[in-house]
Amino acid sequence: MSTRRNVLKYFAGAIISSAGGSLLTTGCSAGLATLHTKIRHNTILVSKAEAPQLSALNEILLIYAAGLTTPIILRSIEGQGVIALSLECTHRGCEVRPFPNSLECTCHGSEFNTLGEVVEGPAIQPLKKFKVVEKTNSWTIEIP
Ligand code: FES
Repeated sequence: MSTRRNVLKYFAGAIISSAGGSLLTTGCSAGLATLHTKIRHNTILVSKAEAPQLSALNEILLIYAAGLTTPIILRSIEGQGVIALSLECTHRGCEVRPFPNSLECTCHGSEFNTLGEVVEGPAIQPLKKFKVVEKTNSWTIEIP
């Protein structure tokens, strides 16, 4: 498990801004940069101007959208680009919490790595991964 000090240090760089009908804030999720938006045509559009932190490795953005039961996390991963994972635990559906090098479920202790792969059970399935299409000025997350 990650230490509280590491978590606070990691999340200290969150930003506040708003644009384009979406709202980017530092919310109640431990100061994480958070985007509140909508799903349009089975996609979520994230402007790079709204999430400049994703140009740095391992930085994240939480996305809340009407119709999603749990948020999506966008994270910049070395060699992978920006990936999108559901924060719904594959064990029994609790919301997992992002940490600097992991995603952890407080319900029964499952732990996932930054790619959403199971590190520790009881979960046995990886977190759901969404396709991300990167364009010059945005990322589009495809919601099936
Ligand atoms: S719901 Fe996440 S470990 Fe059980």
